[in-house]
Amino acid sequence: MSTRDEEKKLAAEAAAALVEDGMTVGLGTGTTVAFLLPALAARKLKIRCVATSPRTDTAARELGLDVETFATVPHFDMTIDGADQIAPDGWLVKGGGGAHTREKIVAAAADRFVVIADSSKPVDALHSPVPLELLSFGLRATMRLVPPVTLRDVPLSPDGGVIADYEGRVGDPAVLAARLSATPGVVEHGLFPPSMVSVVLVAREGSVERRDIPPVTA
Ligand code: 5RP
Repeated sequence: MSTRDEEKKLAAEAAAALVEDGMTVGLGTGTTVAFLLPALAARKLKIRCVATSPRTDTAARELGLDVETFATVPHFDMTIDGADQIAPDGWLVKGGGGAHTREKIVAAAADRFVVIADSSKPVDALHSPVPLELLSFGLRATMRLVPPVTLRDVPLSPDGGVIADYEGRVGDPAVLAARLSATPGVVEHGLFPPSMVSVVLVAREGSVERRDIPPVTA
């Protein structure tokens, strides 16, 4: 196994250890989450899960995890997912796998959102590409509103969205996030604010660093 994969596995196992019997758990998507699923299954807990992608859904079911629909489990005690970039203040870029729309909904529906990552994911400042999901209606017009945007050569999302990437300067992620969210035709973007994140677990050379992101007070 590569060093990166060993780190992903370590972070995933640390997150699986946070899950308790009886919990409802949101399951993210990606290669780090692929290590989470067997670690969770091995614990043989009675938990009810919802998956953020067909990929995760299939893999989790094959491991014997109880995967239900969002309609039957509308709230999670914990959601666990990977990230593409993690800034020092807790801002994330997600959506490398194009699943960020569902991932953001499932993260927002959780009491605690736990991010798991290998040591390549922390960055000093977020940078492009920032994944986007766009409505296919008016696609070219939407792309002209937030240039530069490139389309990914991948299938539509399970919800029929076009997966793309914003390739411009990120700067202040809050400003870019607000701009993208306010753009008609942008279904969702991959910038996740620190207010959504509870814990970041980054594995580095055989150990896991845990960072608790303080809740935002009004
Ligand atoms: C998928 C995601 C993933 O969590 C993110 O891309 C990290 O993936 P990996 O664990 O494979 O590095 O946001 O949409």
